[in-house]
Amino acid sequence: MPQSDPNVPFPLTRPYFDQEELDEIGKVLDSGWVSQGPKVREFEERVCDYTGAKHAIAVANCTTALHVSLLALGIKAGDEVIVSDYTFPATGHAVMYCGARPVFADVRMDTYNIDPELLRKKITKRTKAIIPVHAFGLPCDMDALDEVAEEHRIKVVEDAACAFGGKWKGKYAGTMGGVGCYSFHARKGLTTGEGGMVVTGDAKLAEKMRGYSVFGMTTAWAREKGRGFQIPRFTYLGFNYKLSDIAAAVGIVQLRRLDKVLRKKRALARYWNEKLEKIPGITPPTENRGAFHVYQSYVAVLDKGLKRDRLIERLKPMGVQAQIGTYASHIQPVYHSKDKCPISLELFKRAIALPHYYAMSESDIDKAAARLREAMRGSR
Ligand SMILES: Cc1ncc(COP(=O)(O)O)c(C=O)c1O
Repeated sequence: MPQSDPNVPFPLTRPYFDQEELDEIGKVLDSGWVSQGPKVREFEERVCDYTGAKHAIAVANCTTALHVSLLALGIKAGDEVIVSDYTFPATGHAVMYCGARPVFADVRMDTYNIDPELLRKKITKRTKAIIPVHAFGLPCDMDALDEVAEEHRIKVVEDAACAFGGKWKGKYAGTMGGVGCYSFHARKGLTTGEGGMVVTGDAKLAEKMRGYSVFGMTTAWAREKGRGFQIPRFTYLGFNYKLSDIAAAVGIVQLRRLDKVLRKKRALARYWNEKLEKIPGITPPTENRGAFHVYQSYVAVLDKGLKRDRLIERLKPMGVQAQIGTYASHIQPVYHSKDKCPISLELFKRAIALPHYYAMSESDIDKAAARLREAMRGSR
């Protein structure tokens, strides 16, 4: 059921839904249980089946997933958490929500992911955790990161917001550190509109995270299924970070279709790569050995001297919607950071996200690439 805007023939993204989602939503509405309930539980189980994670807790979005992860790990004021700099600032914000300080580590120019060697240099006595970000769906080299984390006995929280279904050496993104966080926002490969999930292999941590997501009490559905009349107790300060059963119903259908969506998006990314290799001044994204990239977004890098923002503006009237890749966190005023991350800064200035979505065709890419080539001529 893809809706298209004739003025934007090549949108940046377009989520894909069909009758299956509508049918599942209809069933939830008919059931009368529309807030967090049995569908959320089913969605969590399906995510465990898919990723191999032992425990999954559905939440309102990935930002809340990161927040409950850090809280459950005991991150607090005075602690430092090393964060991959090139990311949507939800990652750094989650650290600040706990009263801790995000310390930003630079990324690699080829993968856009945290550089394990630079990360090592950021570790101090206060470092309690690291948050690697699987940028745009390309999983980080988790072997190198786990080695640093083990050596210094620090926790790893994977920001797999963009990487649901992505793999590093056969293991799913989100399941390799102690905790993994996913986003189901509209631009992601699997979307529930807004939504998120946190996974872990640690039962105690899972229980804590679930508590943090529901006011620090037992969930309504757990009470409904429990024995006898139960009055919940509020044992610690939790939040209302719940996902609804309506959203979960959409997620279950999206998950059933995910492998098909990823196959197509990967094929389209390869096609984009072929096109960009013939356009001077732009470098396509890489997929390093061992990684299975899900291309939440297709993000390329312009050569120095090309004016990225002007290019985005020139593409707009041509019907091609483009965007920046993501943000350099350390320069955002909210963090008052003194960290230096020159590569992330370059990517913040030079990376460009191009139209890329499941319902796109190779002929759409041919046309969008031709307009890109033309627009680039006037962007020097
Ligand atoms: C790397 C990264 N982390 C976290 C988030 C936050 O996700 P959400 O919008 O689900 O809170 C995003 C959102 O795009 C993201 O790209």
